[in-house]
Parts: sequence; structure tokens; C-alpha cells
Amino acid sequence: MDDFGADLAFGWYQPTRIAFGAGVVKEAGLELKRLGVTRAVIVTDAVLRGKTDVVAQVERALGARCAGVFDGVAPDTPAEVVDRGAAAARALGADALVSVGGGSAIDTAKGMAIVLTEGGAIRDHQGSQRLGRRQTPHLAIPTTAGTGSEVSMYAVVLDEASREKMHFADDRIIPDGAVLDPALTVGMPRWLTAATALDALTHAIEAFQAMQRNPLSDAAALHAIRLIARALPRALADEKDLAARGILLAAANLAGQAFNGAGVGLVHAMAHVIGARHHVHHGTANAICLPHVMRFDADELSPRLARIAEALGAPPGKDDAATAEAGARAVEELVRQSGLPTRLRDAGVPESDLPACAEGALSDGAIVYNGKFAADRDLVLGVFRAAY
Ligand SMILES: [Fe+2]
Repeated sequence: MDDFGADLAFGWYQPTRIAFGAGVVKEAGLELKRLGVTRAVIVTDAVLRGKTDVVAQVERALGARCAGVFDGVAPDTPAEVVDRGAAAARALGADALVSVGGGSAIDTAKGMAIVLTEGGAIRDHQGSQRLGRRQTPHLAIPTTAGTGSEVSMYAVVLDEASREKMHFADDRIIPDGAVLDPALTVGMPRWLTAATALDALTHAIEAFQAMQRNPLSDAAALHAIRLIARALPRALADEKDLAARGILLAAANLAGQAFNGAGVGLVHAMAHVIGARHHVHHGTANAICLPHVMRFDADELSPRLARIAEALGAPPGKDDAATAEAGARAVEELVRQSGLPTRLRDAGVPESDLPACAEGALSDGAIVYNGKFAADRDLVLGVFRAAY
């Protein structure tokens, strides 16, 4: 895309060292050696630890550099878990964290890294670019191909009392390293493969139309869209297709780099509030809302949405508006193929709560980065009603 003006200005910071490959989890200890740490605590959840051998594989790979395991990670990263995990890691004498799991494990470790270095409780440190020094070293080992949290400066932590999500955005919490091993993502339930891949697709599509988009984020976003559109149907058709899983894992990482540089938008503002109020999985919430936000954006952003549609596989057309609509339909088709709910009503969101959801989305940080102005109560409620 060449729609940037002479006033183009942006920053780009991507410090994560990446090790990619089937079986590369064996090199996790070597990655810690590179970081110069000797007492790493694994941050994971009890199901992954008890029902799979993934955590045991990581423990073996870390060897003497493993100081212990904290397996208290819970969905949506509750603040209480972050504080408890930091206390446990401190008691074990941790000098580093190794997160193993999905976005909640990685975000929990980001929060723990802050509390371990800065002290206090996680809620004391909420905010954007407030941390003035390097935080506790963190190696991320994702077991889903979705959040891209292993390369992002963002963490979302749930305040259980108010049911609101606390946001952290800081260069100092981007993980130092990531081990991307597609073999670890085999065995995920089908719906989770779909939901996490559609979260990654949402990152890429939102980054490509976001306010802070730039040529670097464009490159990462467009290619992530192409890869996910081709690999997701393959991974859904054959859950042991290791090549397709690898492509999804690399694409989720690229999409993470894209949104770390460009931001997300209205889809994420909606998904955050639906997740906090109605416990709808983040990827599922994004999948439902994404095509409706693409249609909402279309009147102002159709040239960009048409390029997104082409990356999704739509034939290039002369009319950007028609091509953009083909892109929204392609996303709907992917969601349908994946078997996820396609309407908020089917995901357990009551119609009576839509006005409160719209209100909540208005105060979410993501909404201001939407490429088209969206921070208006009636506009947002209209998109919620369309997705209902
Ligand atoms: Fe997301």
C-alpha cells in the first residue's frame, strides 16, 4: 500500500529472539543460557502440566536451570494469580520466567516479571510505558498459534472485583526470547485451533487498517493474513498436519509483530468487553465481531480492506468496495468452517446487555486506534447489534 504521506512517522521495537521448528523445545535450556540466567521458574496451568507432557518436556530441556514450576495460571489472567505467582517465584529464588501455554500463561509471566522487579502488586503498575528499567528475563513457549503475545508489549490482566481488564503496554515486558515449536500445538482441541488462529487473523486485519499502521506493520500483517487463510482450513481438516500448524504459529507471530507496531482496533475493544462480562473466549469473540467491523470500516477504508480481501484469497476486482465486502464474507466463511458461533446470541451474550457492552468498549484503549473513527456510543452499539 502506498497511501502514506510525507508526514509518516513511526517507531518499531522488536527485541524477541525467536527459535522456530518442530522439536526445537529441546533447545529451551540453550535459550536461557543465551539470556545468562540460571534459576528459571516455569509459568503454566495445571491442566497442561497434569494432562500433557509439554511441561515435562520443558523441564527436561531446562535441566539444572529450572528452579521450579508455578502451575496456577487461569483463563483471563486474574490479578490475584499474577501476585501469587510472583510470590511463589520469589520464594524459589527465580532470576527468569519461562511461560508455557496460551496467552494467559504468557501474560501472567509478563505481570509476574513486573512484580518481581518492581515489587508491590500488579495493580500498582497499570499503564503505558511506565517501566524505567529492564524487567525479569522472560522466555515464552506458546502452545497455541494465536495471541502473538510472545512478541508484544501488551498484557491484559483481569481485576476480579470490578470485572474490568487492566491494560499494560510497555517495551520492557516484550519477552526476551520465544521458542516456537509447532509440535507443541498438536493436540489442541479443534475449536481452540480455530479460535486462536482467528485471534491472530484479527490482529493482522486490525493492524493493517489501524491508526498507527506503517510500511513495516503492513508487510507483517498482509503476509500473516495470506498464511492464515491458507493454513487454517488445512489444520482444521487434519489436526496432525504439522506443516500447517507451523505456518499458523509463524503467522501468529508475524501478526503479533504487526499489531505491536500498529495497534488493533474496534474488534478488540468489543472482544475485551465481551470476554470480561460474558466469559466468551477472546478468539471466539474476535471471530464473531471481525466481519461486522470490516463492514463498519468499509466506507472509509475500502482500498485497504480490498487488499485484505485479496490476501484472504478473493479475486482482485476493479471496485474496492465490492472486493472489501468479499473479504468480510471470506472471514465469515472461515468462521463457519471452523464451527465457532457466528453470532453473539449463540455465544451467550444477552441482547439486554448490548448497551452496557457498547459503553464498556468505548472506554477500552483499543478503540482509539481503529482506522476509522469509532469512539461513539451509537456507532459501537450499531456494530454490536449487527454482530448479535
Ligand atoms: Fe487478540
